[in-house]
Amino acid sequence: MDASLLAILTEANSAMSQASDPAALENIKAQFLGKQGKVTELLKGMAALSPEEKKTRGAEINQLKQQVEAVLNARREALADAALQVKLQAQAIDVTKPGRSRGVGGLHPAMRTLERIEEIFTSIGFDLADGPEIETDFHNFTALNTPENHPARSMHDTFYVEGGNLLRTHTSPMQVRYMQTSKPPIRIIAPGRVYRVDSDATHSPMFHQVEGLWIDEGVSFADLKAVFIDFLKTFFETDDLTIRFRPSFFPFTEPSAEIDMAFTSGPNKGKWLEIAGSGQVHPNVLRHVGIDPEKYTGFAFGVGPDRLTMLRYGINDLRLFYENDIRFLQQFN
Ligand code: DAH
Repeated sequence: MDASLLAILTEANSAMSQASDPAALENIKAQFLGKQGKVTELLKGMAALSPEEKKTRGAEINQLKQQVEAVLNARREALADAALQVKLQAQAIDVTKPGRSRGVGGLHPAMRTLERIEEIFTSIGFDLADGPEIETDFHNFTALNTPENHPARSMHDTFYVEGGNLLRTHTSPMQVRYMQTSKPPIRIIAPGRVYRVDSDATHSPMFHQVEGLWIDEGVSFADLKAVFIDFLKTFFETDDLTIRFRPSFFPFTEPSAEIDMAFTSGPNKGKWLEIAGSGQVHPNVLRHVGIDPEKYTGFAFGVGPDRLTMLRYGINDLRLFYENDIRFLQQFN
């Protein structure tokens, strides 16, 4: 190769080794091997030579071309290699790093209590009942012997929704729904969320209730007392508690009573706490659902499980239940 060809080879070599990415390299390739590239131009220039000269000159230019191509291919490989290294490094996994643990969730204390109450009552033969949180006026009030304009309606500060329906103010409408589709003997427990326009340290606009209902021939207040005290002793895992009935009024029961409980030992000994409303189911309620009150009687109750949760776990502010502070909730995992 003569000096001018060698100069082109040197130039190509230095330009290609400086190309930092494939696109730049292809541009440089075009400058030498493209249609108007330096090597291509040399080949074009051969047209003017004699056959003798063509032979030697052609061989030389071809040699140059092959060497430029060899440089190009080597550089292409080097760039592809470097790109692969970068990619591998980005995807590298450090298997010695500690794993990311997934926190184990826990049941909210309010739900724990509901599940516990369900377990206790189903273990003595009660069925679970359910019902909607958006209720009709009929199920929430009228069928429970609280017709329109009845003064007892004002005991409940009701959230009304469109279409004349309401957010149920208690779990008692589930009694009605169940009795509409079942015949005695009836033994059910119906837990759920209820809503009232009310909010302070001891009241939340949404809270929980558990409804209980037992209808059969000859079921009396004495049965209510036995079932209820048994339930509480199982729930709190102690025999050291007692209950009392305080005369009260609910439109759907007659007679009606509020149930208070107190521990007979321990730090809370002797402190009475109201935990449920109850009573003998009113004959009008049975009539509304087509059950003969001359033949069947029974009792119903509505417990506030949030109160029971507070007592069981020593929680003093109801609002903690709804703030979802992880430090509070983690204590129940
Ligand atoms: N539903 C009543 C309330 O929310 C509680 C209640 C009282 C339920 C007496 C009953 C009952 O089943 O018999 O205030």
